Amino acid sequence: MFTPVLSLLLMLYRKFPAGAPLSTDLMQANNRVYIATSLDGFISDRNGGLAWLDSVENPEGDDMGYGNFMANTDALLMGRTTFETVCGFDVEWPYTKPVYVLSNSLTKVPAEYEGKVWLVKGKLPEVLQYIHERGHLSLYIDGGQTITNFLAQGLIDEMILTVFPVLLGGGHPLFGDLPVAQDFELVNSKVCLGKLVQSHYRRKTGRP
Ligand SMILES: NC(=O)c1ccc[n+]([C@@H]2O[C@H](COP(=O)([O-])OP(=O)(O)OC[C@H]3O[C@@H](n4cnc5c(N)ncnc54)[C@H](OP(=O)(O)O)[C@@H]3O)[C@@H](O)[C@H]2O)c1
Repeated sequence: MFTPVLSLLLMLYRKFPAGAPLSTDLMQANNRVYIATSLDGFISDRNGGLAWLDSVENPEGDDMGYGNFMANTDALLMGRTTFETVCGFDVEWPYTKPVYVLSNSLTKVPAEYEGKVWLVKGKLPEVLQYIHERGHLSLYIDGGQTITNFLAQGLIDEMILTVFPVLLGGGHPLFGDLPVAQDFELVNSKVCLGKLVQSHYRRKTGRP
């Protein structure tokens, strides 16, 4: 039976099948975002809730490009808040790729995530160098604060944003203040499930 919560999990945290191809072009480091946002630019409500993602039914489990995105992802890098949200889902760990979690407050990976999750902290260029040295160049950057910090340093190359038709009025914002304007070009835009607009943007200006 279709359940909205399960649909949400399938939609955003769908487990990609083991043995899927890794990115073959390891010459170029790439930081990419794949995220759902409200019309007013929030990625969770005031309580950190994601129930609004249930507002659109997805009876056939359309993954909206997530499987393809993950097939070209070597590892995830997410903020601690997002990590704790995923840990709170009542499902099996949804990632088969290594997950790096940015945190100053966590000192140890919870036992059940050892071998799947690694803690990192500090300046983003140093964090990226550490991850690249482990052979992970194509990264899925996740979490509002984390994405904003990456953007502030000109470190996001691509963004796939799926806009839900809801005004949350507050919550965790997707974007924050940036020191300078940045240009992105539209790669593709499509309507998903008849209700969502998914837009794929690529950074136009070079890295600083
Ligand atoms: N709609 C969607 O598709 C979607 C996707 C992802 C997340 N979300 C939701 O959005 C919310 C995200 O929360 P958020 O904006 O607070 O962001 P976040 O980026 O997930 O987490 C922020 C935390 O990351 C840590 N951090 C960030 N940069 C760091 C650095 N350079 N070094 C060390 N630690 C660093 C800090 O943790 P410490 O406090 O431990 O130092 C900071 O408090 C969550 O509610 C999540 O569920 C929604």
